[in-house]
Amino acid sequence: MGKKGVMVVDHPLVQHKLTIMRDVKTSTAGFRQLLREIAGLLCYEATRDLKLTSKPIQTPMAEMDAPTLAGKKLVFASILRAGNGLLEGMLEMVPSARVAHVGLYRDHKTLEPVEYYFKAPEDLSERLVIVVDPMLATANSAIAAVQRLKDQNARNLRFVCLLAAPEGVEKFTKAHPDVPVITAAIDSHLNEKGYIVPGLGDAGDRMYGTK
Ligand code: PRP
Ligand code: URA
Repeated sequence: MGKKGVMVVDHPLVQHKLTIMRDVKTSTAGFRQLLREIAGLLCYEATRDLKLTSKPIQTPMAEMDAPTLAGKKLVFASILRAGNGLLEGMLEMVPSARVAHVGLYRDHKTLEPVEYYFKAPEDLSERLVIVVDPMLATANSAIAAVQRLKDQNARNLRFVCLLAAPEGVEKFTKAHPDVPVITAAIDSHLNEKGYIVPGLGDAGDRMYGTK
């Protein structure tokens, strides 16, 4: 983890796949598939310090005490819509995880998040909650989603995204200094409409072909 709890996952496979996702010529199907693949790789980094315990098992050859994840099942919290692209890849890595959905969209004029849905497992206080959304732009959506989960007693959170703007990283880490950020890249800046530059455009539209 780098300074201020921010980790940039510079793995060559992640960077290669991200470049294809950024390319305006990449199809909706390709974009979705790559997001799912990168999600698995980001999940690997975001969970590398999970605690292990051991349990006795019988292999075909012998008995052994084998490592297994300790503690309560973790929670992936997807910020709708685009968070679902990351969520699917993460669930392939951790199929037993619980899932929270935070429905938010950015008001295009104010860039403030508007909540339209929230559903989370009841007992968040003892679980690691990994919040997922491909884009951290102004950070208004991520800050609101994390606050909503904290209001539901989440105490141990991480935020995983694909792309971040430096302005968003700064604002998010100030608002939630206890929540590490894991991202594949931190881009140059936000434009006057709150889009990440060079970025990849509107993640939700590119995933679902809505524009
Ligand atoms: C996108 C993205 C984030 C948000 C990031 O969602 O998936 O949730 O914008 O921007 P911010 O950091 O400035 O808040 P959008 O609001 O476009 O909704 P969508 O996923 O439904 O398309
Ligand atoms: N949301 C997106 O989908 N893309 C951006 O560049 C900024 C916010």
